[in-house]
Amino acid sequence: QTIYRKDYTAPTYLVDTVELGFDLDPARTIVANRMTMRRNPDSIRRDIELVGEDIELVAIRLNGKTLDQSGYSIDGSVLRIPDAPDTVTLEIETICVPESNTTLSGLYVSNGNFYTQCEAEGFRRITWFPDRPDVMARYMVMLRADKARFPVLLSNGNLVEEGELPGGRHYAKWEDPFKKPSYLFALVAARLVCQEEQFPLADGRTALLQVWVEEGNLDKTDYAMQSLKHSIRWDEERWGLELDLDRFMIVAVGDFNMGAMENKGLNIFNTKFVLANPRVATDIDFQGIEAVVGHEYFHNWTGNRVTCRDWFQLSLKEGLTVFRDQEFSADMIGTESGRAVTRIDQVRTLRQAQFPEDAGPMAHPVRPDSFVEINNFYTVTVYEKGAEVVRMYQTLLGRDGFRKGMDLYFARHDGQAVTCDDFRMAMADANGRDLTQFERWYSQAGTPIVQAETRYIEATRTYELRLIQTCPATPGQPEKLPFHIPVAVGLLGKDGRDLPLTIDGQQKGNTAVLELTEADQTFVFTDVPEQPTPSILRDFSAPVVLRHGYSDAELVHLFSHDSDPVNRWEAGQRLAMGRLLKLTGMAGANSGADALDLDDVFVEAMRKMLADESLDPAFREQALLLPTESMIADQLDVVNPLAIHTARQFVRADIGARLREELLDQYQANQTPGEYSPDAASTAKRALKNLALSYLCAAPDAESLALAERQFDEATNMTDRVAALSALVHARAPVAAEALQRFYDEFQGEALVVDKWFMMQATSSTTDVAAVRELMKHPAFTLRNPNRARSLVAAFCSGNPVQFHAPDGSGYAFWAEQVIALDALNPQVASRLSRAMDRWRRYSPALQEHMKKALQQVAGQAKLSNDVREVVSKALSN
Ligand code: ARG
Ligand code: ZN
Repeated sequence: QTIYRKDYTAPTYLVDTVELGFDLDPARTIVANRMTMRRNPDSIRRDIELVGEDIELVAIRLNGKTLDQSGYSIDGSVLRIPDAPDTVTLEIETICVPESNTTLSGLYVSNGNFYTQCEAEGFRRITWFPDRPDVMARYMVMLRADKARFPVLLSNGNLVEEGELPGGRHYAKWEDPFKKPSYLFALVAARLVCQEEQFPLADGRTALLQVWVEEGNLDKTDYAMQSLKHSIRWDEERWGLELDLDRFMIVAVGDFNMGAMENKGLNIFNTKFVLANPRVATDIDFQGIEAVVGHEYFHNWTGNRVTCRDWFQLSLKEGLTVFRDQEFSADMIGTESGRAVTRIDQVRTLRQAQFPEDAGPMAHPVRPDSFVEINNFYTVTVYEKGAEVVRMYQTLLGRDGFRKGMDLYFARHDGQAVTCDDFRMAMADANGRDLTQFERWYSQAGTPIVQAETRYIEATRTYELRLIQTCPATPGQPEKLPFHIPVAVGLLGKDGRDLPLTIDGQQKGNTAVLELTEADQTFVFTDVPEQPTPSILRDFSAPVVLRHGYSDAELVHLFSHDSDPVNRWEAGQRLAMGRLLKLTGMAGANSGADALDLDDVFVEAMRKMLADESLDPAFREQALLLPTESMIADQLDVVNPLAIHTARQFVRADIGARLREELLDQYQANQTPGEYSPDAASTAKRALKNLALSYLCAAPDAESLALAERQFDEATNMTDRVAALSALVHARAPVAAEALQRFYDEFQGEALVVDKWFMMQATSSTTDVAAVRELMKHPAFTLRNPNRARSLVAAFCSGNPVQFHAPDGSGYAFWAEQVIALDALNPQVASRLSRAMDRWRRYSPALQEHMKKALQQVAGQAKLSNDVREVVSKALSN
């Protein structure tokens, strides 16, 4: 059933301390839980309310007395003890079966080891508890397990005691000095090894840092450790936030639903975001590790010390922490252009994933009003749009003002479970600003559209910028009120330089942050010497769609000169999108690439950009990357995946052919000989070089393919390896099959590389449903491992539009089959996969018919998780 934000009530009882005893056995783990509880003065009720799921209740004692069936009631997952005394000690003994827990939520076994995942509601699968984030308690944990099989026993906080037990068992006792909500609890009992070191903190203390992995992976922990140290330092320097523990651990596990988890002092990570060395990891993987290690570490303050009152407030910690990890990654690169490239990446992610979510059946505000299954709301909207909302405070208040707001937020709320409104109030109060209207960013779903109209009046040397904002209806929200939107604007003169800005007699420098608060508002610039070219929404100052009737000439001017790198890039995207949309229309009508044609204006702009060696290669790579097929689809009322693919491939091939010389030049100029290093400058060169290779292979002549083949043979790092291999695969090169086989043979022992191998094939437009079914029979394939299931099944359904949308509906039938199969194992992973159908109403009637049938087939299953049911029923009804 649906849970509503407006129905929030305070917990009836609070928990002060929790002692947990675990007798760990994969087949039968006994959990003893002793809680000291007291009535919550903020609640009028006097019953104790606990939740539990998939656990067997053995005994329950209240203040020393065993409760029989009359002392409590169990209704579904809720256990109620009526009329409890004001203070109680509650002891509960339960049994769970970790080895058959395929959901990877709660306590589970992966490759013979024990791990936990408690966010959002996994702790209730371990013991009966008021499993909600506004109940914060101090934890003491005793772990007992077989010593030979589980030599390492970890939990939150500090190790206070360890020793031997009879029967080859041993124990470890951990104490977390900080109170925390149950979703931050963690334990690990495993055969693991670690890289460790003592690290000095700003206040003179030192902390023990550890990265725990399975044996054989110690050659892949350096980068995670280095990223952790950078994160600690950066949090001290940029925000004055220190590590509050003597010990901080990261543990990598191969079976994990998400990226990683910020459990207090014991972060548990998907191996994908820990393990790396040049042989097995790409530049993108290294970047991912730095970002996720940072993200989880930064949660220690934004999430753990100050946590969420309820799960509707999830973006309070996630949006803020994504913003922090974005800033961290940008600062780690350190250059102006590097920072801009990270910003461009963020904009691409939003357009690729968040804008479609905002426009689909699962659209929800950054702070949702209701949900059926909270795990369905760990979304790009809550995370990435949430980060944009946080960034807008910084844009409106300035960096110093934002920092003041953060300081006040911690001063007020350290140790508390709070709301998005509390954060907004801290920002407002610290800066003496009224941010009432800003609240709509939290409550209204949908991507706002800002339409810009301009007028230059020569006689008065004034320039008018009229901004009109609207926001499309979303499920449950037919009407929207105007947002408070920071719109950063610059004006380019004919020479390409920024004109100094004056508004209301005030000098604004080269970029003015306009505050658009009304539906229709006009801003007037004075002393404008000539008709300028407007650069609107600089640095992507708000998560909106900007519409303006730019001419090609204006776009080329911006693409050549804009001092704001994000808008300079954006001008190129607009030029490309115009062509892609036109060509898609033509390809749809002709169903072929024959009649397609690309104009010189665009090709020459790209040529100039590619060859401009005064620009960072990372920026040039971004500028030459075309909008994705999904971004093109987003612009169309009726989506024809094959026409989009044909058009985009045509543009790639045409650029590949017409810019051949320049591409070859850049391919040579951006080699990175010598030892591999994942630093920003080398990463940038590889990115541009490999983009050049992919363009060359898009118009596959023998010479280009030979280049790719040589790179594949001679590469000394995974970045160049996979770039060459995927160029060969996507070009359908004759050697592709053999190269894939060699790649598999060499890396079959590296699970994360095998994932890449599956994914590369899953997303190739030559791979049809039948071929995916064949790949599923490969001995290395299993639905049970989330990374593996995602790398083949989800990659195909979401990353291979041409084949997934095969006219006979076979892709959709496959989707339904896999969602159902996965749902029986792991609802969270199944539910993610089920979202591949989000946009089903945007396809041709014939495809829609097939999609609807597949959706109905899933919805019609008698046994279906809440997770999948919520997604498919919203898809069918919205
Ligand atoms: N808090 C984690 C992070 O963003 C994500 C964990 C979500 N897990 C889940 N099963 N919903 O770092
Ligand atoms: Zn997070």
